[in-house]
Amino acid sequence: MNVLLTGGAGYIGSHVARAVAASGHTPVIYDNLSKGHRTAVGGFAFVEADVGDAGTLTAALRDHAIDTVIHLAALAEAGESVEHPDRYFRNNTAVGLALLDAMRCADVSRLVFSSTAAVYGNVDRMPIREGDPLAPINPYGASKLCVEFMLRAYAKAYDMGFVSLRYFNVAGADPAGDIGEDHDPETHLIPLVLQVALGQREQVAIYGDDYDTSDGTCIRDYIHVCDLSDAHVLAADAIEPGRVKVCNLGNGEGFSVHQVIATCRKVTGANIPAEVAPRRPGDPPRLVASSVRAADELAWRPQRTHLETIVTDAWRWHRGHPDGYGDR
Ligand SMILES: NC(=O)c1ccc[n+]([C@@H]2O[C@H](COP(=O)([O-])OP(=O)(O)OC[C@H]3O[C@@H](n4cnc5c(N)ncnc54)[C@H](O)[C@@H]3O)[C@@H](O)[C@H]2O)c1
Repeated sequence: MNVLLTGGAGYIGSHVARAVAASGHTPVIYDNLSKGHRTAVGGFAFVEADVGDAGTLTAALRDHAIDTVIHLAALAEAGESVEHPDRYFRNNTAVGLALLDAMRCADVSRLVFSSTAAVYGNVDRMPIREGDPLAPINPYGASKLCVEFMLRAYAKAYDMGFVSLRYFNVAGADPAGDIGEDHDPETHLIPLVLQVALGQREQVAIYGDDYDTSDGTCIRDYIHVCDLSDAHVLAADAIEPGRVKVCNLGNGEGFSVHQVIATCRKVTGANIPAEVAPRRPGDPPRLVASSVRAADELAWRPQRTHLETIVTDAWRWHRGHPDGYGDR
């Protein structure tokens, strides 16, 4: 398969591209580098352009004889989406629509979509299953859910085939150590804690330690980016015309903020000062995925589920690249 990866110069996309190549397919990266990194593209074919640029996108789909698209390109900061919903509905939803129409134009009918746990909003019952109510609490989650609705309609009307993967908290890095997480601003817990270990931040904030959880801090489901990437290759193989398959991708196990910090201390040997701060509005105590459907439908078996493995791989990247890709 020739696989076009939108957002392939980003954190997750660069890992998925390597998984696609390792499985014998040919990745083509399509990214406007608004958040991504040229170095992360590696030696793969690269088109530097916006997904909303219909002419360039259609030409890329045709020129590279693309069979399947993996659509990772998006803005992905929930907090920013509350301040600037226009950016999110434009770049995630409207651009998603433009992509589907460019695919129709170029006769490409298979797509794997990067969705998110944020489509669920606040769920009481854990673990979260795909059939649980969809009630996003921020424009980011809503902008992604709109795309899922479009996928359903396009599958039915145009016989296209889709797999929508709802990621939980993606973390870690390729064990080879040459690609990893470099977001600006960084909002994810593990890189923030590791930046304290590197002396780039004074301390890490723990937003609330009075939740109804085992140690009072919030629990999240961390999934290794390489396990997540493998699921994309399986998903691409599982696409069926006229159908939308939706699968959560998580570890099945939650880790608390205290556990993450303790594991980072153990792996790095650094002290890592932490300070308790007030709860953040909209932060649910616990978010853990059921990934039973991904196991059943995609035959997906995550291999790197231990928190220490995830942190060790992330640390290898951050220690080797304290300034990330160094291109900002
Ligand atoms: N990181 C996570 O924990 C997480 C969790 C759930 C879902 N996701 C989803 O995974 C995807 C990838 O996330 P990431 O963490 O790798 O983010 P990232 O910012 O590192 O990567 C996104 C990439 O998309 C590119 N991009 C954005 N808009 C574009 C456009 N209009 N045209 C072309 N390129 C564009 C950016 O330049 C960047 O390289 C996103 O869709 C995100 O919503 C991420």
